[in-house]
Amino acid sequence: MLHLPPVIGHRGACAYAPENTLASFAKAADLGCAMVEFDVRLSADGVPIVFHDDTLQRRTNARGPVGARTLAELKRLDAGQGETIPTLAEVLGLCLARGMAVNVELKPDRGTGCATAKAALELAASLWPSDRPAPLISSFDRDALGAACEIMPAWPRGLLVERVPPQWRQLAEQFRCSAVCAHHRWLSASTVSAVTASGLVMLAYTVNRPGRAKALWKRGISAIFCDAPDRLW
Ligand code: G3P
Ligand code: MG
Repeated sequence: MLHLPPVIGHRGACAYAPENTLASFAKAADLGCAMVEFDVRLSADGVPIVFHDDTLQRRTNARGPVGARTLAELKRLDAGQGETIPTLAEVLGLCLARGMAVNVELKPDRGTGCATAKAALELAASLWPSDRPAPLISSFDRDALGAACEIMPAWPRGLLVERVPPQWRQLAEQFRCSAVCAHHRWLSASTVSAVTASGLVMLAYTVNRPGRAKALWKRGISAIFCDAPDRLW
């Protein structure tokens, strides 16, 4: 069974620093986070970068699709408080240096699931030492998850969903998943017990209230994504 820490820093520690930036991951490490989650997509020139949205507007001083700009163009933008959009290589380097495990969420633009998985996982495999806990790879995108099975079969995968669908068993089998990651709002006690009884680990996102986190752990959730991980210690 997959072993995870009870709290995973969501987009780093994004309650305290601009989400998915090196400052956010450094803050997560400062707070004592054992693991962080982040979102990976491709720049126009095919470089895996860490950024949540498919457009620039919410998190930078620019507008328009992220995937239409090269890495050099993206690097000129302000991602908040003077931070830049980090590459996957930069984020993995920081996590390795600070001893944090990682959940790489593949967040491809429509139609780029396989390409995103290939670029991200080949890069990650070249950087991530085999004596460290393997990255957990998750995605809402079925093409990306399928490609992850082929490219890095030994790295654990998480079926990422908003609500656990009725066909969760088939999907978990199809993508040889070790985990199911679901929005906490939709997690009934019976769903959690069915999933965990099957040998899969359950994760819930995004929970920032300690009382809610406690209730979910009691229900059998293994790990909780949190924007302010220190609130849940
Ligand atoms: O992987 C858990 C969570 O990050 C999924 O949703 O939108 O925050 O990437 P989102
Ligand atoms: Mg995410």
